[in-house]
Amino acid sequence: MALLLRSRLLKSGGAARSISTAAWWRHVEPAPKDPILGVTEAFLADASPSKVNVGVGAYRDDNGKPVVLDCVREAERRIAGSLNMEYLPMGGSIKMVEETLKLAYGENSELIKDRRIAAVQTLSGTGACRLFADFQKRFSPDSQVYIPVPTWANHHNIWRDANVPQRTFHYYHPESRGLDFASMIDDIKNAPSGSFFLLHACAHNPTGVDPSEEQWKEISYQFKVKGHFALFDMAYQGFASGDPERDAKSIRIFLEDGHMIGCAQSYAKNMGLYGQRVGCLSMVCEDEKQAVAVKSQLQQLARPMYSNPPVHGALIVSTILGDPDLKKLWLKEVKGMADRIIGMRTALRENLENLGSPLPWEHITKQIGMFCYSGMTPEQVDRLTNEFHIYLTRNGRISMAGVTTGNVGYLANAIHEVTKSG
Ligand code: LMR
Repeated sequence: MALLLRSRLLKSGGAARSISTAAWWRHVEPAPKDPILGVTEAFLADASPSKVNVGVGAYRDDNGKPVVLDCVREAERRIAGSLNMEYLPMGGSIKMVEETLKLAYGENSELIKDRRIAAVQTLSGTGACRLFADFQKRFSPDSQVYIPVPTWANHHNIWRDANVPQRTFHYYHPESRGLDFASMIDDIKNAPSGSFFLLHACAHNPTGVDPSEEQWKEISYQFKVKGHFALFDMAYQGFASGDPERDAKSIRIFLEDGHMIGCAQSYAKNMGLYGQRVGCLSMVCEDEKQAVAVKSQLQQLARPMYSNPPVHGALIVSTILGDPDLKKLWLKEVKGMADRIIGMRTALRENLENLGSPLPWEHITKQIGMFCYSGMTPEQVDRLTNEFHIYLTRNGRISMAGVTTGNVGYLANAIHEVTKSG
């Protein structure tokens, strides 16, 4: 039958063949622009000399230039020439994963000593979340995931593509521009026992609003009562306070309460390794035997997707964290980045207040991490872009990492112009 069809097609000449092949992708429409990375594309296409990009969460120095940390340069110098191009194991660099676990779980973690954590290197934080979502689908196929409102836009894509149904829980309170703690706790209590929740460990993206230590304790307690599972996305360890230990507090509280958490880590921001795609997914297990089983399944999920993760970025991380002097330098540099951002928050708020803005701007300095959730409407954002060549996401999120002493006045003035009439 197949042969007959083929000879008919050939006899009918090239036209028939080209019609049948051209039809393959006729139904494919252009994908919508990514709400975050699409902003960078628009920024790059703008020829204006006064343009400003406060869209993507990528750190810039005070001249608006991308930064390669000194500890990274030094690690690259040390590994140059010694790097071979062999495959890493499916679970990635064992040394990098070991060092990464210490950051999240603590240098002296009993869980690490008892080998109760299943962990693999991932393609940054996105890859870690996606691997977890696929794991969730495979081993808890009827479960759903609770995601905060709002959250990083890509979280929705990740669990959608893993075919895990999504529910939401209250997080942000637009009026106070802070945490809607009471509604969040209600949602935790009302979710079916044993639900999966996605939590931002620190420097919540996009709001910059984190629970206090006391609030984390209460959240952990309620999770215990309901038997919920927490996956922490920790993309900004070090960026909230300048101290990676302090920024791991939420996780440590959950661990003290005996939760078997999952954790997605990334070195994009805190080591500036954006394009290297280095991260880690870890899951606390009941014992070593279970951790071995879980790790083997994570590896089996990775194998048909990308086989094994890339080596270069992982080697940079393990070189830095494995050397006390380089680690010290890294800690100093993370603090330097966090402090510059904190300084820009103060400058932006002061500029707006000095312009006589009638609106309250305390939240700029109260929120933490890379982002300020300004409260501007999509229409006000459109005006910023169209009239002032300032690029940001339409939810009003400002990447404070793109604010500099050179552009803060211009930015404040433009924000004042588009917000002063309400
Ligand atoms: C952001 O939120 O801007 C960053 O996490 C970059 C990204 O991939 O979206």
